[in-house]
Parts: sequence; C-alpha cells; structure tokens
Amino acid sequence: MKNIVNALMLSALITGVAYADVVTERQMAMKSIAQTMKGLSAMAKGDIGFDEKAAKTGLLQIEATAAMLPDLFPKGSNIGETESAPAIWEDRKNFDIVMAKFVSDTKIEAAPSDSSELGDKLGIIGANCKACHQDFRVKK
Ligand code: HEC
Repeated sequence: MKNIVNALMLSALITGVAYADVVTERQMAMKSIAQTMKGLSAMAKGDIGFDEKAAKTGLLQIEATAAMLPDLFPKGSNIGETESAPAIWEDRKNFDIVMAKFVSDTKIEAAPSDSSELGDKLGIIGANCKACHQDFRVKK
C-alpha cells in the first residue's frame, strides 16, 4: 500500500512540473501515465491490496494527464530527441481519432469497487497505448 501511495504521489509531482518544451512535456505525461498504470496494475492483480481511494486517485490522474495530451503534439514539434513518428503530422486525422478515443476511454464515472473492476478499466485504457504506439511511435 505504501508503495502505491508513493508512486501516485511521485507521478503527481512529475505531472505538476512546468516543462521547458513540448517534447519533454509529452514524454513526461506519457511516463507519468505509464507509472500510474503500473501501480494500479499491481493492485488489480492483487500484488498489493485493493484500495478504493488510491485506485480512484490514480485513475483520475490518468484521466487528467490524458486530457492534456492532444495539445502536446503541435505542428513543428517533430524535433530533437523524440520518438514521435512523422505519421502524427502526416496523418493527423487518424492520429486525432486514436487520441480522442484514448482521452475518452480514460474518463471515469465511478471509482472501481474491487480489483476486478479496476482490472477491466485498466484493460480498456491499456489497449489504447499499444494501438497508438504501433502507428505513431518509433522505438529508438
Ligand atoms: C494517441 C497516441 C498515444 C497513446 C494513446 C499513448 N501513447 Fe505513449 N507515446 C505516444 C507517442 C507519439 C510517444 C513518443 C513521444 C515523443 O517522444 O515525442 C509516446 C511515448 C511513450 C512513452 C515514452 C516516454 C519517454 O520517456 O520518452 C511511454 C512510457 C508511453 N508512451 C506510455 C504510454 C502508455 C502507458 C499509454 C497508455 C496508457 C500510452 N503511452 C498511450 C503516443 C501515444
């Protein structure tokens, strides 16, 4: 339990930092989401005890961070140390669709009441990561 709270607090800190540039900003946002997902997955799998409040806090954090992402891929930001694929800007319509689905899938109406409900939600959110990375992220 202590670990997840620490992880959540840490990613809250990361999310709050004012970033120097948009590339770093989107990478930090991605990292923060990945980190929170990891903590929540451990809870869904039963590696750590289910805690409704921590689960809700984590999911809300993912929702809020995901909502910032659409603005973090402006034209001309395919520069420097980036894993963003040129397809983001060449195939913007499709990227926007994939992004909009992700933002929508991260929205939560009610906190999950057990680890199985949490796992279901993480499954829905997690399918988006792969789908987008496949087409729009180049692994260096
Ligand atoms: C709509 C597209 C999209 C979705 C959805 C998405 N990603 Fe990403 N992700 C990217 C792109 C593009 C990059 C490369 C960013 C860059 O370097 O400019 C990236 C980079 C990352 C990185 C590396 C960040 C770094 O430090 O450089 C991680 C980790 C990551 N994503 C995790 C996730 C996880 C976990 C999810 C799902 C919960 C997710 N992403 C969903 C597009 C997406």
